[in-house]
Amino acid sequence: MKKIEKPRGTRDFSIGDMEKREYSERIISEIFENYGYRKIQTPTFEYAELFQLKSGEEIQKHMYVFEDKKGRRLCLRPEATASVCRMFSEKLRSLPRPIKLYYHGPMFRYEEPQKGRYREFWHLGLELIGPSGPESDAEVISIAYESLRRLGLEFKIEIGHLGIIRGLLKDLGIKEDIQNKIIASIDKGDIEGLKKLIRDGLLFDLIKLKGDKGVIDKANSLLGDHEKSIKALNELREIISLLDLMKLEYSLNLGIVRGLDYYTGMVFEIRVKELGAQDQICGGGRYDELIGLFSGISVPAVGFAFGFDRVMEAMELQGIEIPKKQVDAVVAPVSKEVRNDALKIASELRKNFIVDFDLMNRKLGKILEYASDIDARYVVIVGKRDLENDKVTVRDMKSGEQKIVEIKRIEDILKSDK
Ligand code: HAM
Repeated sequence: MKKIEKPRGTRDFSIGDMEKREYSERIISEIFENYGYRKIQTPTFEYAELFQLKSGEEIQKHMYVFEDKKGRRLCLRPEATASVCRMFSEKLRSLPRPIKLYYHGPMFRYEEPQKGRYREFWHLGLELIGPSGPESDAEVISIAYESLRRLGLEFKIEIGHLGIIRGLLKDLGIKEDIQNKIIASIDKGDIEGLKKLIRDGLLFDLIKLKGDKGVIDKANSLLGDHEKSIKALNELREIISLLDLMKLEYSLNLGIVRGLDYYTGMVFEIRVKELGAQDQICGGGRYDELIGLFSGISVPAVGFAFGFDRVMEAMELQGIEIPKKQVDAVVAPVSKEVRNDALKIASELRKNFIVDFDLMNRKLGKILEYASDIDARYVVIVGKRDLENDKVTVRDMKSGEQKIVEIKRIEDILKSDK
């Protein structure tokens, strides 16, 4: 025998895990759909070039890149935003705008696996393509907020604006590739690295600004006549006034820059403190120049992705239970000669209930044990004598009580407990 293990950084999801994952996906997708977003799917592998144009060094360093049999350079997708932009240029450009899309699927990054960080992980994300005003930024933030609230999670949203920093860097005459390096250092919290790239003290003061709305006024006085940055700051002011209107709780953090190069405006991150080092469960923001890169037409867009695995871990750590899926009844034929009748009863009940049928040819005692192990609510015992009178015996697995009932009345009993 040769034991083959799963690759590092991947996981198997068992029955209970999948129940929780699907429940949470359903709750979140329902909220996305309530706002008019529709589900799409893009390939799990793409041309590597797609993510080389604008995703940034950090992502590229962690990409799974390989050649196919014809020598094409492909990669497992590390994220989906670039794929959605590619899809826009091929398929979506003539749709009425705004275009509201969401997706759920595996992403791949060759990172050092640890709790909350995997090589295969899931994004549940959305992209809003077309509008550029603060209302669209506020909508996207509020969807993320509402989704997590609906799951019952406690979390913190931090909002920043990349236009403030980029505006300043442009005024200082810093080229885009160096800007990206500066932004990557800020993202990693690498202050020493940052000092090597830029000396201007204003940037260091700006990225330290965190807290409530007072941050805006402080930044305003720091920025003086840096017009582009002031414009971005005013945009941020408008976004948060809309969030106030919707009664969302958030804090500002002008040091949030995100680890991807394509962001141009509002950026936000959501954290759950119980998760420790990998506490960021969501990241997103505005990326007004990415679509233009693939389609030649400039179209603004904003979006975010939940790190779905971290959302699930946060729920676990915060003790959030999901409604359990219970088998309503196990149908148990007592002897061989009634198996076909029992199967007919099971088929009929399955139109409205979750019903298991004994496929192992076990004795009644063993079937009852099995029903108790899987936590089934009832066992429908089908015996020859009952059947002759169109009846069966229904055993309540909670109380242990048994009742002889007409076949057509089984549903009433099963229903009474729903
Ligand atoms: P991101 O911040 O790179 O953004 O990924 C989003 C979320 O995925 C993170 O906040 C984190 O929760 C989760 N995540 C990232 N890497 C891992 C990993 N190795 N294991 C487990 N979870 C992970 C994006 O990818 C953007 N596409 C989001 C976006 C959509 N921006 C605009 N639209």
